[in-house]
Amino acid sequence: MTQVVLVETHGKVGLIRINRPEAMNALNNDVVDGIGAAINTFEADENIGCIVITGNEKAFAAGADIGFMKDFDYMHAYKTDFITRNWERIKTTRKPVIAAVAGFALGGGCEMAMMCDMIFAADTAKFGQPEIRLGTMPGAGGTQRLPRAVGKAKAMDLCLSARMMDAAEAEKAGLVARLYPADQLLDETLKAAATIAGFSLPVIMMIKESVNRAYESSLNEGLLFERRVFHSAFALEDQKEGMAAFVEKRKASFRNR
Ligand code: HXC
Repeated sequence: MTQVVLVETHGKVGLIRINRPEAMNALNNDVVDGIGAAINTFEADENIGCIVITGNEKAFAAGADIGFMKDFDYMHAYKTDFITRNWERIKTTRKPVIAAVAGFALGGGCEMAMMCDMIFAADTAKFGQPEIRLGTMPGAGGTQRLPRAVGKAKAMDLCLSARMMDAAEAEKAGLVARLYPADQLLDETLKAAATIAGFSLPVIMMIKESVNRAYESSLNEGLLFERRVFHSAFALEDQKEGMAAFVEKRKASFRNR
């Protein structure tokens, strides 16, 4: 049986490849459970400091698998807690996750990319929420994360018209952090992930947690959270090492403590 999720380790970076090329990487339970299992492994591995999720050159993922869910009824979706049950493992990991997107990221594929902490895109990337064409709506965060990323106007446009947004528009609109020629996407993403993973792991996690608070709180509450976490960073050996290394004009050697 083909493995629908391929897992690799590149130094301190964990790489997860969605591997259903025959179905444009459509996301079924096997894929999402496989991604969750890989994240569990990377989360438990102190050596891993950053995770990358990617697809292939044609598709990151063209959505939830339509054949898989077409006969669901309400009770099945509710009782199995469709989406929440396994998709949100991407959201709960404390390590940063970068989506490296080439080709289609549609419907649940776009939503999965947005669950990640950053999207790096190839110039071939196409983003969209075309669920309305199928007589349904985004259900894995599209109506919530897209407006936060690109503003209400473009989010409404994409969700209501089903049109796709190309990589240049997505980068300009703020959905995409970095844009690369397609043949450089994975190498550059792995390089950026390695840079992140080379820093102190507790600091990486503190920063991720603090930036995410910006979405959950008022400005003053968010600032208070940041200040408390920042103060706590003075308890880190890595803070002593990082600042000493700067003063002594040498490279810091972090020990994740
Ligand atoms: C199941 C899919 C699929 C999907 C593509 N395929 N997308 N199978 N679920 N989401 C399959 C096709 O059926 C086809 O299988 C093969 O992949 C190649 O796709 P083609 O359509 O032949 O390729 P192309 O003409 O290049 O068109 C690419 C495409 C189109 C534009 C991406 O496939 C497309 O529109 N797909 C559906 C996109 C979509 O509606 N996504 C939202 C899904 S709903 P065969 O066997 O025929 O070769 C969703 C809900 C989210 O995501 C809510 C909660 C997660």
